[in-house]
Amino acid sequence: MSKYITTPIYYVNGEAHIGHAYTTFIADTMARYEKLKGEDTYFLTGTDEHGQKIEESAKKNNKGTKEFADEISATFKNLWDEFEIGYTKFIRTTDEEHKKGVQKAFEVMYAKGDIYKDFYEGHYCVSCETFFTETQLVDGEFCPDCGRSTNVVKEESYFFRLSKYEDALLKHYEQNPEFIIPKSRANEVINFVKGGLRDLSVTRTSFTWGVKMPSSLKDDKHVMYVWLDALLNYVTALGYGSDEANMRYWPASMQFVGKDILRFHAIYWPAFLMSLDLPLPKQIGAHGWWTRDGEKMSKSKGNVVSPKEVADVYGAENLRYFMLREVPFGQDGDFSQRAFMDRINSELSNDLGNLLNRIIGMSGKYSGFEIDSSDVLKYHKKEIDAAHAIVDSLDVLMEGMQTHRYLEELWRLFAIGNKAIEEHAPWVKMKEGKKDEALATVALVANILAKASIMLHPIMPRTTNIIADTLGFGIDSSSYKEFILDKKLLKLFSIKQTPPLFPKIEAPLMPEAPAAQPNAPKSEQAAVKEMPKEQDNLIEIGQFFQTSLKVGTVVEAQEVEKSAKLLKLKVDLGEESPRQIVAGIKEFYSAESLIGTQVCVVANLKPAKLMGMVSEGMILAAKDENGLSLIRPEKPKKAGTSIG
Ligand code: MSP
Repeated sequence: MSKYITTPIYYVNGEAHIGHAYTTFIADTMARYEKLKGEDTYFLTGTDEHGQKIEESAKKNNKGTKEFADEISATFKNLWDEFEIGYTKFIRTTDEEHKKGVQKAFEVMYAKGDIYKDFYEGHYCVSCETFFTETQLVDGEFCPDCGRSTNVVKEESYFFRLSKYEDALLKHYEQNPEFIIPKSRANEVINFVKGGLRDLSVTRTSFTWGVKMPSSLKDDKHVMYVWLDALLNYVTALGYGSDEANMRYWPASMQFVGKDILRFHAIYWPAFLMSLDLPLPKQIGAHGWWTRDGEKMSKSKGNVVSPKEVADVYGAENLRYFMLREVPFGQDGDFSQRAFMDRINSELSNDLGNLLNRIIGMSGKYSGFEIDSSDVLKYHKKEIDAAHAIVDSLDVLMEGMQTHRYLEELWRLFAIGNKAIEEHAPWVKMKEGKKDEALATVALVANILAKASIMLHPIMPRTTNIIADTLGFGIDSSSYKEFILDKKLLKLFSIKQTPPLFPKIEAPLMPEAPAAQPNAPKSEQAAVKEMPKEQDNLIEIGQFFQTSLKVGTVVEAQEVEKSAKLLKLKVDLGEESPRQIVAGIKEFYSAESLIGTQVCVVANLKPAKLMGMVSEGMILAAKDENGLSLIRPEKPKKAGTSIG
């Protein structure tokens, strides 16, 4: 059975950041893994180039729209090429075949009666290219997804009968519990659909930068809605509507998306496919968002991490390793140089790099850079069996996208290798004249390194090719079969001397995140009160003690959907049950990063309602032009400890 793996196609209104890189890394890893297993695999990525947002960005940059799209699309393609992303095709929605395919799909849907003409009136967010109803807006004006201002738009539009597919979608989710991973996200989608689906406006007349209507409809003042155009890339790339030979790869085995665009992929996309009588993708994998040093990345804050900048100083594959090791799939992750350096130094350099260096050194010293595996099973059957048990456990982790667990388990192989060297001390055995035993330990470790590098290959292809070259073998689906599936040992290693692969990093190599810009969009500014000037407002000590300040421990935290600012926390104040506190700190802290940390709380504040949720306290924070910091006790204190 063939495999088809996709990334979202990236908007060409700005250059790639590590969030985009993460989606691409994870998809590339999966595609490489399937190829390693010998699967016939097609891996698609590309750029999403139509719509008002791109038109406006081009204008701002004083460029023609196509010229602008060409430039930015090329920056994505070049970046992925630098990262050696092994895509089969890089699609652009401005490609002629794609446009033809979209027009054909529109005609098929129209002929089926799934598209009709009417009027649309709603609040449009240009940045998200999405319509919202009044009730969905934050503060009656701002986009619930990105926080930017929306415009009221009324125009003639063609509509897709999304509502018709409500039941079929719910049935599909029910019958295919693995359709959306992680499962927690599936519930969000199901609840959204159960809440009722409105027909979807799928054309625009207010701008022209889009796929034109099929000529058969004779209505050329409309262009296609960018999400209809964009989602169809997954089949037009395979030739839908033109040369359909590659349509044999459809349905996709895995479509990776960020959690922010899951709704489009898990609701609209399957409905479009049903309308086209095409099978639905096997699985949609929704990953979390990346922050930098605990803060949301945004152009306005100037703290966006450029993958190129990181790769240039820390190494492209080290970044891949870090991102896939750091977060469980589906959860938000944080990029900090400290965490990144720690993983490079302890896991890549100490555990893996040193083991390889020791094998190069010992094989040179004891056996002229040749390692023979003949005696491994005689002296080290236990270790080899343990290593094979670990290797056997990996497939299910990768197929379930548990990359952090996959790498964690994989690293246990290096622990076996390092422990064997310590315990069996080949240098002592050599002195004692037990050369066979000494060389068997070296060969054990060489075999462990060989198997580990095959399994690490999808994540660090270039690095593992160097390791394999150092050991004297090649990584491909036949070595995967021989050394992983059939559990063979490599009979003879011929070792090359290779300089250390992971030099230790002593200090951060990039400047720290720049200070946040004070002129962030209105909705991006934190809800921090203006403080009165001290000298105008002196109080008695008794007045101060009327405020009950307490240390609390955050036991739960989640993002408030539809709000750019709010997080909903459960804070333990040493009372019977934790308090619910709704705080305007979402742009500065991810929910994840707060769990288990301590905060200072105004505990005797009258409960208030924020976006319909009761908040029973206020969290203390300080904000200046560099951003917002929570005020915390210097050392952990019992939950409920009074401050003052
Ligand atoms: N063009 C649409 C996708 C159309 S797919 C038919 C789009 N493009 S995007 O460039 O805005 O985003 C592409 C992907 O990058 C999305 O999956 C999004 O979730 C991801 N990310 C953008 N910022 C991110 C982070 N900070 N962290 C992780 N991923 C994030 O949406």
